Amino acid sequence: MKIIQDVQTLRERLAGAGSIGFVPTMGFLHEGHASLLKQARQENDVVVLSIFVNPTQFGPNEDLDRYPRDAERDQKIAEAEGVDYLFYPTNETMYPLDMARVTVRSGDDVLCGASRPGHFDGVLTVVSKLLNVVRPTRAYFGLKDAQQLALIEAYVADYFVPVEIVRCPIIREADGLAKSSRNVYLSETERAQAPGIQQALQQAKQALDQGVPVETVLDRTREALQFEGTTIDYVEAVDYPSLRPVTEQTTTILLAVAVQFASARLIDNLLYTRG
Ligand code: PAJ
Repeated sequence: MKIIQDVQTLRERLAGAGSIGFVPTMGFLHEGHASLLKQARQENDVVVLSIFVNPTQFGPNEDLDRYPRDAERDQKIAEAEGVDYLFYPTNETMYPLDMARVTVRSGDDVLCGASRPGHFDGVLTVVSKLLNVVRPTRAYFGLKDAQQLALIEAYVADYFVPVEIVRCPIIREADGLAKSSRNVYLSETERAQAPGIQQALQQAKQALDQGVPVETVLDRTREALQFEGTTIDYVEAVDYPSLRPVTEQTTTILLAVAVQFASARLIDNLLYTRG
């Protein structure tokens, strides 16, 4: 595995490389990231992983400065997953002039977009830059961040970006908690409460199966997410991947939740296809 910090060297190495599978991340890798790398490895000649904690997607009161990092461990995981090139740029490399940014026009007024103003402008800006640097055949994203994935798909369609976006399933701990770099922030008590998020989503799925109306399912899910010492950031259902309100015509519903613990904000979701 080669570790590369600058755009030109990476481009030289990738010239004529065959099919390129790309997995963009912010590092502190776990099995969720590893599953994306595994799929990329299976489907492409060359695998590129990027690790860049992108400052423009963090709000002023968010965890940019304390976002967990472990470069050495990340390199070992990347190597074990068969990564060919690890792209590790600096802020200066990714934002040489910073005179231009991508703006989301719709779909960021719900879910995480509503509670994190400007977050998805930052995400699409950096994903756009990374896709232009790597020029991959396929890029892999997790449904853990379902709104992010839908907005990236929309960006690629709107800008005619020549890449295939691959949706990957959510990887969980044995007790159901969705894997996240931020899980390390949780105290012991919070870690014991956190699997309740997935349990609430499973109950929601059963209720939808039984034909319970979406609004009722959302109310019940809010009830189920009342953990001591936490607050609900949102419990919402939207049409997927349009991110518009659920209507009679909706075939796939995204039911997504965010719960604010003292030390971390956790998100999880369920994609439900109507029979
Ligand atoms: P990061 O949070 O590091 O996640 C990188 C990729 O891993 C994303 O596509 C995310 O959805 C996926 N992922 C995270 N946890 C997962 C899990 N438990 N199961 C499956 N996939 C999972 O998302 C970002 O970084 C950034 O916003 C980025 C796209 C890199 C832009 O900066």
